[in-house]
Amino acid sequence: MANRIERAKMPELTAKDGRTPMPPPAREIAALRENIRYHLHRYHVLDDPELADSEFDALLDRLVELENEHPDLVTPDSPTQRVGAEPSARFAAVAHELPMLSLDKCASKEEFIDWEARCRTRVGYEGELEFTCEPKIDGVAVSLIYENGVLVRGATRGDGSSGEDITANVRTVPAVPLRLLGDTYPATLEVRGEIYMPLDGFRAFNEAAASAGERLLVNPRNAAAGSLRQLDPKLTASRPLSMYCYSAGLRGDWEPDTQWQVLEAFRRWGLRVNERVVRVAGVEACLDYVRLLLEEKDSLGYDADGVVVKVNDFGMQDALGTVTRRPRWAIAYKYPAQAATTVLKGVEFQVGRTGAITPVAKLEPVFVGGATVSNATLHNMDEVERLDLHLGDTVMVHRAGDVIPQVTKVIESKRPGDARSVAMPQRCPACDTPIERPEGEAVARCPAGLTCPAQRKESLKHFASRLAMDIEGLGDKLVDQLVERGMVKDPADLYGLDVDAVESLERMGPKSARNVIDALRASKHTTFARFIYALGIREVGETTAANLANHFRSLDALNGSSEEALNEVPDVGPIVASRIRSFFDDEDNRGVVARLIEQDIHWPTPARPAKSPLAGETWVLTGTLSTMTRNEARAHLVKLGAKVAGSVSGATTRVVAGPGAGSKAKKAAELEIPVMDETDFVAMLAEHEARGSG
Ligand code: IVH
Repeated sequence: MANRIERAKMPELTAKDGRTPMPPPAREIAALRENIRYHLHRYHVLDDPELADSEFDALLDRLVELENEHPDLVTPDSPTQRVGAEPSARFAAVAHELPMLSLDKCASKEEFIDWEARCRTRVGYEGELEFTCEPKIDGVAVSLIYENGVLVRGATRGDGSSGEDITANVRTVPAVPLRLLGDTYPATLEVRGEIYMPLDGFRAFNEAAASAGERLLVNPRNAAAGSLRQLDPKLTASRPLSMYCYSAGLRGDWEPDTQWQVLEAFRRWGLRVNERVVRVAGVEACLDYVRLLLEEKDSLGYDADGVVVKVNDFGMQDALGTVTRRPRWAIAYKYPAQAATTVLKGVEFQVGRTGAITPVAKLEPVFVGGATVSNATLHNMDEVERLDLHLGDTVMVHRAGDVIPQVTKVIESKRPGDARSVAMPQRCPACDTPIERPEGEAVARCPAGLTCPAQRKESLKHFASRLAMDIEGLGDKLVDQLVERGMVKDPADLYGLDVDAVESLERMGPKSARNVIDALRASKHTTFARFIYALGIREVGETTAANLANHFRSLDALNGSSEEALNEVPDVGPIVASRIRSFFDDEDNRGVVARLIEQDIHWPTPARPAKSPLAGETWVLTGTLSTMTRNEARAHLVKLGAKVAGSVSGATTRVVAGPGAGSKAKKAAELEIPVMDETDFVAMLAEHEARGSG
């Protein structure tokens, strides 16, 4: 915690009269306030935060805690009295007639159970309460006012009592209706919700910005905030923004009884409501939802940092009431922080199986995304340069789900005076061969292939891995030793090892050595798909390997296939086809494969494939689908024999367009390529599955 507040200048040590020394809590409060103001300005005015959101929240939480303990020290200018952005001078300030509330937070099952129990006690209800659960969207809270169904004003939440008038910008967001549907809405309706930037839009924007050498957006939340604060609405319009609506503020003579009714009415009026909102009964059902969403979180297509649970019944909401701008009837169940700052201790250059050189940041260990992180990927040399990394830099680290932790940003103001920038290696750190980096490629490689010990080790590890030959007990440490002692050069050598040889290695007893040899023998009986995958051909993952096995059915057929023939295989395009061809054209590779077969590696011949109903077709997916993720949709199509491409061209057979489909659907229309919506798509999949071909 201490390092998070070190930015604050030392606060005045004496009270205003210049004599009385400040008591310790007053000093901490003053330091916190100054620090928080500094970070608020960076975040909201400069759009360039130096702290992860969770770290900022921790500062604010501490200040709230201290002020609660010492109410006499609360001053009107404390950041707690005005949490949020100062309305920027450029936009008109608008007062919210009904305050825009904040949410209480909890971070564990126990805290949630306590909250739910308190709700029940307070309303004196015996049975199970009804709740709505929905993703907590990481975007910008806004208020939209509709007069007689027409959008007349859009405003940011600001500090909750007044925000900024961003009507012109809000009008550019495609998900915001300029006019409501039907005629059942009240004369005045205030819709509240979250404007956010979907992840694919965020990535696309950053890719374009990177290639144009422009400044990148830090994260989707900042991107949404920055986009809405553009003075020129055309700029806002060029950013891919969307909105989910979640509550009603002013509502005239409309008197819904429940939160659920509000959402249903919103949908009828053409307002976008999250497809994942559910209405459930009881605490366990809420916790199930929290668990489910955590699993799905990384495939939602937008950033969600938790679940918002609300008591459904408005009568009960009124009975529960609101304290200090936080309703007692709602809570945000927050997932573990996904970002944190820490110090860069060094950069290591790792050589992968295919020679690709990946810079890896060595970090002061930090707890983020539910785990302690001490290594983070820096992707490639371009990224190191783009970040302008120096040793000793304070950096922002992100970790989401199972994704490898990433360094996303350098906090330049914290750079030590004597910091050296990170030097790029010119030679392979493992074999000293000069590194190659073809023009236009982001990845630098060691060209030495299997003569490079690092590549040798990595390809052996891949060969032995669970989804490949699955040689239990042949772990990384063992492979490292086998290569370093020159005992094994390629996968075929593994099968020449005996118990004595393995036992001679460090940390190997007779029993574990025996086990390794047994596992090697057992691995000889495998499947064709595993064998192909184990060879480690560039771009050939498990799916492609399985497709190749089913298509060619024998090693001779695969070995002798032309690039054209390879192109026929689902999921194989020209690049992959040429990689496979050049693998089998390589003399050394042919030798290794032949020796493996001599070692009696064998597999049953794959069954003749059922006719693939979509064979030869190329499909394109665009927009968001509500019943499955895009990856799932892609997997279904590939299973049916189709290829799935990323962009629409003359070769496209069909396009599946979900809501939010943009340029690809347009292109399809221009080229007169048939477009299918999600309902028809799902029906088509069901039909093929029923026929047993899927
Ligand atoms: S409900 C009392 N629902 O969280 C009702 N808020 O900490 C308050 N937020 O300012 C809002 N997703 O920016 C609600 N599904 C959701 C939300 C959500 C994100 C944000 C919103 C609000 C903040 C409160």
